[in-house]
Amino acid sequence: MSGIIVAPSVLSADFLHLEDEIKAVEKAGADWLHVDIMDGHFVPNLTFGPKLVKSIRGITRLPLDVHLMLDNPQTFIEKFISAGADNITVHSEVTVPVPQLFDMVKSHFKSFGLSIKPDTPLESVSDYLDMIDILLIMTVYPGFGGQEYIESVTAKIAEAARLKADNDYHFAIEVDGGLNERTVMTAVSGGATIIVAGEYIFGSRDYRAAINSLRVG
Ligand code: DX5
Ligand code: ZN
Repeated sequence: MSGIIVAPSVLSADFLHLEDEIKAVEKAGADWLHVDIMDGHFVPNLTFGPKLVKSIRGITRLPLDVHLMLDNPQTFIEKFISAGADNITVHSEVTVPVPQLFDMVKSHFKSFGLSIKPDTPLESVSDYLDMIDILLIMTVYPGFGGQEYIESVTAKIAEAARLKADNDYHFAIEVDGGLNERTVMTAVSGGATIIVAGEYIFGSRDYRAAINSLRVG
């Protein structure tokens, strides 16, 4: 076991065959399923609501890693938890105080992730690093699948790993955007252990081979 968690992002699945796609990545060894929720405000794209997450919950045993790219996550956290989310990740850049969002998630005993965009400094979330379960470091500008991994973010991954080790924080470092068999080496050497991948997995001919190739380190 590599200790790496691989989370295929359903954003890149074939939506007309979503059940087959999800069952295929589950069979191919995926650890989690990453579900991107976009509101057309926080990011310039739209995706899914709680109803789809509930339907997905009904057809897979994979933990659902729900990434909220929303200006108003407080309105939706409980709806996504009721729909079956196991982890809820919110963005640090929204105006709602992080402790308020954390409490909403923790009142349901779910895992809480906090995400930072490529231009958001780690210092902006330093007050929360002792409480969160996941630090999601975006390695592309959120909004779309199929973008290139931003190499300059690797330094931030390494800095987060250093802070975690120095302070004995319990959060896991997740990376999202542009991950493939090459860029995963950089991210994992920096300290990432949860790897989200959309195009690389769903765009491949062999899901098992693609997932296994992300288990590096
Ligand atoms: C982007 C999303 C990602 C996206 C990653 O805003 O948060 O989860 O699906 O896609 P790839 O792996 O194709 O870059
Ligand atoms: Zn995502």
